[in-house]
Amino acid sequence: MSYAPDGRPLALVVVESMRGNTEAVAHVVAQALERVSYGVTLHEVGDPTMPTGRLDTDLVVVGAPTHAFSLTRPSARADAARHGASAAAVRTGLREWLSEVTPAHGRRVPLLAFDTRVQRARRLRGAAGPRACVLARHRGFAVHRRPGSFMVADNVGPLLGGELARAEIWVTTAVADLAPRPGRQHEPVAAAR
Ligand SMILES: Cc1cc2nc3c(=O)[nH]c(=O)nc-3n(C[C@H](O)[C@H](O)[C@H](O)COP(=O)(O)O)c2cc1C
Repeated sequence: MSYAPDGRPLALVVVESMRGNTEAVAHVVAQALERVSYGVTLHEVGDPTMPTGRLDTDLVVVGAPTHAFSLTRPSARADAARHGASAAAVRTGLREWLSEVTPAHGRRVPLLAFDTRVQRARRLRGAAGPRACVLARHRGFAVHRRPGSFMVADNVGPLLGGELARAEIWVTTAVADLAPRPGRQHEPVAAAR
């Protein structure tokens, strides 16, 4: 384990969001992780201070909006920019970030993914969360549980009632399964073998 200066395990939350809905879920997820004893940093994809390369953390949580049944691509983000999304939001995406990161050498780093999508398309196949899981697994992360998916009313939102509460329950339940459990002191992974 690596620990925050105050001794808590570390969680990195990374979110892509055009219209703020996925970002709102990410903030609830980050707060829920804090409540169960993680030291959390939250970054928007494209933030110049984003960690890249080998990630030395105890948990990664990624979230993104579903575009065309998957993670966004540059063409879809350009389209979103024409319809009012900010330049910063469309510069890059979670797909690109995941292609630049791996777990730190010798570390088992669990990763959870979630997406937002429109309610009317909920039965259609394909969404950002499952795609993020596939990419993260290829990069060597220990993808944990099924992705979370939270519904918006339409392309610009808002999130449906109850979805933020559902996000809190989703992440709290997911990390409860993780070993070693947050809040306890553990030997570093390499030394424990
Ligand atoms: C270009 C575009 C394509 C989209 N494609 C899908 C889709 O395939 N399935 C879906 O459920 N929602 C789709 N949506 C709706 C987005 O998932 C929704 O805008 C997003 O959840 C809002 O999150 P954000 O506010 O964080 O950007 C699409 C939206 C846009 C703008």
